[in-house]
Amino acid sequence: MPLIDPVRIKTLLGPLAGRFDVDALDEVDSTSSELSRRADQGAPAGSVLVADRQSAGRGRRGRHWLSAPEDSLTFSLLWRFAGPPGHLSGLSLAVGVALARALKQLGAEGVCLKWPNDVLLAGNDGFAKLAGILIELSSDRRGSTAIIGIGLNLRPPENLSQQMNTQAAAGLAQALGKLPERHLLLAAILQELLAVFDVFAAEGFVGLKTAWQEFHAWEDQTVRILDEQAPELTGVCRGVEADGSLLLETSAGLRSIHAGDVSLRRL
Ligand code: BTN
Repeated sequence: MPLIDPVRIKTLLGPLAGRFDVDALDEVDSTSSELSRRADQGAPAGSVLVADRQSAGRGRRGRHWLSAPEDSLTFSLLWRFAGPPGHLSGLSLAVGVALARALKQLGAEGVCLKWPNDVLLAGNDGFAKLAGILIELSSDRRGSTAIIGIGLNLRPPENLSQQMNTQAAAGLAQALGKLPERHLLLAAILQELLAVFDVFAAEGFVGLKTAWQEFHAWEDQTVRILDEQAPELTGVCRGVEADGSLLLETSAGLRSIHAGDVSLRRL
């Protein structure tokens, strides 16, 4: 499979090409780590780094992220927002909406979202993880910088014990008759990310809340919330709030669950 060609991505992006600056590498430790180093050296908003191999890919909660060159799309994007990182609590959900929209637009059936930011594929055996999103924020007096790392499985990787925890893994090939060429896939995702960022910058996550709920895998279903710092909580998912927190209807009433060290399982 050819390395991503930035010139071809620019062509596919058409009038939006000027909003992105795409670079592709054969191998890097982690696209997010490298982009963060580049941000420190002044890389502009819209910088995108795609890599075929990561030697130290990172997932959420300190996990490793494995990806195989032929079987994944692995990239990070640098974006800047006005205001402090506290204003960006719903950003990872917004990125999920962009991914789900892009995959749906390419014809994928059964793509849905798990709070706070996993992209799942519904299948006969239940849900399996299709993509992961890792957002790292920093700030200075001009605003916040987000390094948004996305790992999308084209085919389910074979050794997923480290990254998927107890979640089964899926690949986009299972949702589509024929896998789209990776340039088309990346261009479609970047276009949807841009659309979502424009709404997010103008209105915050509230402008994407309904869209997120429409993709929510477990809306109105019972889940367990696991938090190392607190007793287990069970309740029914009743959508998300304007700040991206999950609304859970428990026996003691409605509770807001904030992303952090919690993990969510369907009962
Ligand atoms: C998760 O744990 O679900 C998030 C996984 C995010 C993986 C992506 S792959 C591209 C970018 N670079 C990294 O090192 N991690 C993210």
